[in-house]
Amino acid sequence: MLVNIVLLILQSLWLILPAYAANSFAVIAGGGTPVDFGKKFYDGKRIFGDGKTWKGLMGGIVFGMFVGVVQTYSAEIIEFPDFGFFPGFFVVLFCLTFGALFGDLYKSFVKRRLNVKRGGKLPVIDQLDFIAGAFLFLIIFSPVWFLQTFTIYHIIIILVVSPLLHRVMNIAGYRIGKKKVPW
Ligand code: CTP
Ligand code: MG
Repeated sequence: MLVNIVLLILQSLWLILPAYAANSFAVIAGGGTPVDFGKKFYDGKRIFGDGKTWKGLMGGIVFGMFVGVVQTYSAEIIEFPDFGFFPGFFVVLFCLTFGALFGDLYKSFVKRRLNVKRGGKLPVIDQLDFIAGAFLFLIIFSPVWFLQTFTIYHIIIILVVSPLLHRVMNIAGYRIGKKKVPW
């Protein structure tokens, strides 16, 4: 029983790992030209703000997909779920990585509209934006893989564990000087 629960948690984290990797690596790779090129929206505020950069976006996608490819080829060895066959797994991995960063980008868009400054807090949404983005993209572009691989338990575990992990990762990012605030 306990073994099964632990296994389920590990599997859940394994399945969402490319999204975590993309989201974390965006912080490390970030900097330089912002995604919105410094442009303002109709309301006179920035579209996304300086916290969303092309380097972060591209670096996150590339690194997240790399992690996913390595996982796919090691999945058989440890008997864990994989992301599908070549070349289909690229679609799944793109959903997980780009979807995650799209969720993060969309959140920044909403934050700016709500007049929240770059780095300002938006509880719950700040922790689940990238998960929601990844799931949304999977449901739209890889529904078969998604429905065959994820159970409701995986989804619940991911929704519960991610905010905790996100918090830990952000404190780490703050400590190494990559994030201005520890959230
Ligand atoms: N980052 C980036 N590009 C992205 C995502 C993140 O360059 N697409 C980098 C930025 O340096 C950013 C840092 O990672 O400041 C932390 O990311 P995040 O917390 O998502 O951004 P915030 O600075 O908090 O900005 P926002 O208020 O828009 O969420
Ligand atoms: Mg933030």
